[in-house]
Amino acid sequence: MRILVIGGGGREHALAWKAAQSAQVDKVFVAPGNAGTAAEPKCENLAIKADDTGALLGFARREGIELTIVGPEAPLVAGIADDFGNAGLACFGPGRDCARLEGSKAFTKAFCARHNIPTAAWQSFSEAAAAREYARTLGLPVVIKADGLAAGKGVVIAASREEADETIESMLSGDAFGAAGSEIVIEEFLTGEEASFMVVAAGEHFVPLAGSQDHKRIGDGDTGPNTGGMGAYSPAPVITGAARERIEREIIRPTLSGLAAEGTPYTGFLYAGLMIGEDGAPRLIEYNCRLGDPETQPILMRLDSDLVALIQAALAGKLDALEVNWNPRAALGVVLACAGYPTGSHKGDIIRGLEYTSTNNVKVFHAGTAAQDGDIVTAGGRVLCVTALGDDIGSAQASAYEAIEKIRFDGMQFRRDIGSKGLSPR
Ligand code: AMP
Ligand code: GLY
Repeated sequence: MRILVIGGGGREHALAWKAAQSAQVDKVFVAPGNAGTAAEPKCENLAIKADDTGALLGFARREGIELTIVGPEAPLVAGIADDFGNAGLACFGPGRDCARLEGSKAFTKAFCARHNIPTAAWQSFSEAAAAREYARTLGLPVVIKADGLAAGKGVVIAASREEADETIESMLSGDAFGAAGSEIVIEEFLTGEEASFMVVAAGEHFVPLAGSQDHKRIGDGDTGPNTGGMGAYSPAPVITGAARERIEREIIRPTLSGLAAEGTPYTGFLYAGLMIGEDGAPRLIEYNCRLGDPETQPILMRLDSDLVALIQAALAGKLDALEVNWNPRAALGVVLACAGYPTGSHKGDIIRGLEYTSTNNVKVFHAGTAAQDGDIVTAGGRVLCVTALGDDIGSAQASAYEAIEKIRFDGMQFRRDIGSKGLSPR
């Protein structure tokens, strides 16, 4: 069969790489892909942007694509799954209504309240004076979020009254995030340990993926600005058996049954970003209507089962009959970002040493890369995710960092402590 993966980041390289391993797959098109997907067996890049739904639909029709997997949130929030569905094409991802779980924080907060899903205390505002007043009732730090999509940058954790007031002002005035900030959510600051929990969902049924943990800040020891994610590992020791049971019972099930009861059943990958409190109670920080990046890279390294069969079972409403096998080893991925990330986006730096990194246990997933005059060069943002398997988190970490020593490009930045929290869980 011929399949289409939409997107061009590290998550999509991992999706394409894993899908290509399926015995039933002859060809994987990736739109637009990157230099990594271009070189992957069975894979071919398309010069179509991830948000060009018209061109993607035309291609899928013409080429007889039997399954489309959508990586990023923007096309989902814009309704690509509805458009493919209306055209009679199999597309794995939630429709526009369900994608509001990521597309609107105010929608999500109200949804959590309707279905008793534990999350931080909150209110939404479109007027600054009322917002400032509510923020004062929550203590410090206080969390301020732009309602709409802001490329992962729409969250400010304000440490002082002044910072809170300024953030409220700059979001609501449109200066910070344009229309995405015309409504804001102010919420309580949660403490505990963060974890990512993703499922393959179809209506009220779901199959959990292995747990994982991301590293959102740019700097070692969780310092500096937020990024899209600088590294991840799986499994996450904080998601113990008991925690998993609570996450499924208190968060995932009420979410899926709430959506179904509201007439908008969810199909696709669903990502719950969680804070696990000191008492073991999970609380929802955010939903994403897609897989996480970079969490997907280590998770798919550990997936022994056929990804395409798993997605087909979800689309056919047969998740219950499916058994998913995980490699008991740990996987860990370290992101190498371009100079200036997360604010700048330097392009065109030659990447050297990639040819020395491949072993049975190490896979370098590409993100912001491009082929240029016979070289592979940076294309901005997160550039590579060097991902390794190991008997435990420590040995996966050692293999990933050993591989990184062979890779070089100007301005390369990465964290040196990916996985350290997993080595000494509290
Ligand atoms: P989000 O874009 O919603 O994932 O938020 C980005 C990051 O901000 C999260 O990964 C958390 O580290 C942090 N964050 C968001 N909301 C809260 C909260 N209510 N309490 C503590 N940290 C938060
Ligand atoms: N790594 C977090 C995300 O994909 O949103």
